[in-house]
Amino acid sequence: MHYLITGGAGFIGSSLADHLLARYDDARVTVLDKLTYAGTRENLQSAEATGRLTFVEGDVCAEQTAREACEGADIVIHAAAESHVDRSILSGQEAARTNFLGTFTMLEAARQAEVGKFLFLSTDEVYGAKTEGSFNEESPLNPRNPYSAAKAGADRMAHAYFVTYGMPVIITRPSNNYGPRQFPEKLVPLFVYKALRDEALPVYGDGRQRRDWLHVEDHCRAMDLILREGEAGEAYNIPGDNERRNLQTIQIILDELGKSESLIRHVEDRPGHDVRYPLDGVKIAGLGWDALVPWEDGLRETVRWYVDNQDWVERAIKRGEDFHNQWYAGRK
Ligand code: NAD
Ligand code: TYD
Repeated sequence: MHYLITGGAGFIGSSLADHLLARYDDARVTVLDKLTYAGTRENLQSAEATGRLTFVEGDVCAEQTAREACEGADIVIHAAAESHVDRSILSGQEAARTNFLGTFTMLEAARQAEVGKFLFLSTDEVYGAKTEGSFNEESPLNPRNPYSAAKAGADRMAHAYFVTYGMPVIITRPSNNYGPRQFPEKLVPLFVYKALRDEALPVYGDGRQRRDWLHVEDHCRAMDLILREGEAGEAYNIPGDNERRNLQTIQIILDELGKSESLIRHVEDRPGHDVRYPLDGVKIAGLGWDALVPWEDGLRETVRWYVDNQDWVERAIKRGEDFHNQWYAGRK
């Protein structure tokens, strides 16, 4: 089986490459990635060591690149995106381009190449915020920031390719991922980095917002299952069933590092901050799926990965420095 993973040099895409190559001896993986600040070939070292990974540097918005990458692929997993909400708030241009136009370009290329399956990695954030109850796959989409709005447009474009052309498209909507190799702009790796240096941890608003945490390995298992058992034209939520307030998550990080909660600093909130987006997991449970990684163990192990891989983190921090300085300078 030949998989094409776009965005495969990033956090989730590289984990999926590792997962597929380890699980299936006959799997071959091609990664198409532009290597933005968020992507690095370092993330593919173990995958490349199998000899069954091909890396293509290129932009998912470029038609010819997309067409060439799809040739010969049995399954496309489209994970490439500008994935950070805060960056999209500062400037939505790259999110609009990559997340929407890039998805359209990949869908069209995959249609022409007649690929056997196209998995679009959407997000729980397309539903918008909800204080009570949960979202199922039929809930209306109500994205509230440029990142999630562009993802929601792409999510519906992917669905349109199924309805209009009968293309075998499957949409997944996972919750917040955590695990090794996440870019240190997201909550968990950024706060580990800062806490290790005794720097203040910039908690947006009161820190009582909730996120449902999904370990990236559980996420990869879920995508693998959906590729095998899921139905074309359907969307699948992938919850982690670990909903925690941000402050609770931060307390575990500090505890694992032996650092004091006095590092917590409440700063100006993210505009349009989604307080919570809980997912109903009945549909994926029907495929026989359950998350395996226990939350607190998984988080503590993740924290230790960042402690043990500080060179990796430092290189990433440098690539993200301009954004970091601009965004946090304004949040007192
Ligand atoms: P990431 O930022 O770590 O990686 C994104 C990758 O896409 C990078 O390697 C980057 O170089 C590449 N990329 C960006 N623009 C590109 C372009 N124009 N052409 C080709 N490659 C490009 O992101 P991630 O956290 O691994 O997220 C992967 C996918 O999962 C995204 O689609 C994201 O929306 C979705 N998602 C992520 C989470 C999460 O918690 N991280 C949750 C739900 C959904
Ligand atoms: P993040 O990791 O950016 O993921 P998402 O916005 O996609 O959920 O943020 C997770 C939560 O942590 C979210 O509620 C925002 C909050 N947060 C902070 O309070 N401070 C920060 O510096 C960051 C990056 C996030």
